[in-house]
Amino acid sequence: MEDTMWGGRFSESIDERMARFQNSYPFDWRLWAEDIRGSAAWARQLHTAGILSDGELAALLAGLDAVRAEYAEGRFQARPDDEDIHSAVERRLGELAGAVAGKLHTGRSRNDQVATDVRLWTLGAIARADAGLRELQAALLAQSEAAGEALLPGYTHLQRAQPILLAHWLLSHFWPIQRDRARLADCARRAAVLPLGSGALAGTPLNIDRAALAADLGFAAASPNSLDAVSDRDFVAEFLFCAATIGTHLSRLAEDMVIYSTSEFGFVTLADAYSTGSSLMPQKKNPDSFELLRGKSGRLVGHLVGMLTVLKGLPAAYDKDLQEDKEPLFDAADTLELALPVAAGAIATARFNTGRMHAAIDDAMLATDLADYLVERAVPFREAHKAVGALVRAAEARGVALSALPFEVYRTCHAAFEEDVLDVFSPARSAASRQVPGATAPAAVRLQIEQARACL
Ligand code: ARG
Repeated sequence: MEDTMWGGRFSESIDERMARFQNSYPFDWRLWAEDIRGSAAWARQLHTAGILSDGELAALLAGLDAVRAEYAEGRFQARPDDEDIHSAVERRLGELAGAVAGKLHTGRSRNDQVATDVRLWTLGAIARADAGLRELQAALLAQSEAAGEALLPGYTHLQRAQPILLAHWLLSHFWPIQRDRARLADCARRAAVLPLGSGALAGTPLNIDRAALAADLGFAAASPNSLDAVSDRDFVAEFLFCAATIGTHLSRLAEDMVIYSTSEFGFVTLADAYSTGSSLMPQKKNPDSFELLRGKSGRLVGHLVGMLTVLKGLPAAYDKDLQEDKEPLFDAADTLELALPVAAGAIATARFNTGRMHAAIDDAMLATDLADYLVERAVPFREAHKAVGALVRAAEARGVALSALPFEVYRTCHAAFEEDVLDVFSPARSAASRQVPGATAPAAVRLQIEQARACL
């Protein structure tokens, strides 16, 4: 037992099944860069605190550099009894640097060490996710700019509602991602707090300058409470919430794209490069990119729920349950890293069939505009709504479009209708009439594009 790092007080070896059960190396090896970075910073503080001589510090830093090189070059040889990344790095450091390696863990616990590593890793994952989101935003913005004043039938309840600009719809998927980026930035602010120096739970007895240590590792501040610091995984849950929300947004964008790419809609044609075929039906071209983007939201939401469930009801301070933070964190970050470039590429290469969109805008989508026409002639909106409802019914009964109804029918439904009512049946005019900021008029959308550009 003397070869495990905690074996001193044990007389019996660990059960082999228990060893496998508790071993986190198969997943937490991914923290190697952060673990080594944290250890180097800790060694520098041990030196400042007078625990390490100049020579010992140099030997430790050189040893850590050598371990880092082994990982970076894929040469690191893990052993089955390396129970986690922290013990693996320390074991190898001992082999390379000798007995001085035994001084590195002075005044430190794996509890504050792992919390530090995971925070550093999360900050990196946030930066990568932000870059992926930005790329998707750029694709949406480029398509919005290319769309010009092309019109799209806008839907509510997936029923034809009112004409809008294609660019307006595209940008409706830009802004949720902008909020996701803001949420990630906020998450990063809370993740950038240093746990190291908290020891196992009560704080290190060494005279460590935690502010300097925080600065050395790029953290904004040191944690205010050591018990909280070793067990706080809010930043993981927050990252997972951000990822789940991103997944939700991707799934909504994906659903629109899946629907719009059907033969029935035909509004968009996906690039072959982001579609796949069927092994059975030769004619099929499936929107797998967007279906998978929609599907991946399931695991992202699942990781959030799983993490919150692990954290709920844990007694102070560190508990081994917390080892369960890593797999959801890594998988969520990996999923985003896989998904976001695909989303960006599939949007960037999609072809929007503006003719099909325009053809799908029927007269009934201008019924609100007909009511507005009456409102402009001082008719109360409720009365106008009723009159236009009667017109829609009349058109349906005759099986004709609203604009094809004889003028007498208009007059019967409301005396305020004049011959110029037919001017209402212009989808472009309808869209152009909605000019307030945030609305779909071309000028308002141009302003929106400016705002979107400023975000990138
Ligand atoms: N592998 C552990 C984890 O990921 C490291 C911390 C272990 N701490 C302890 N007291 N056993 O949480």
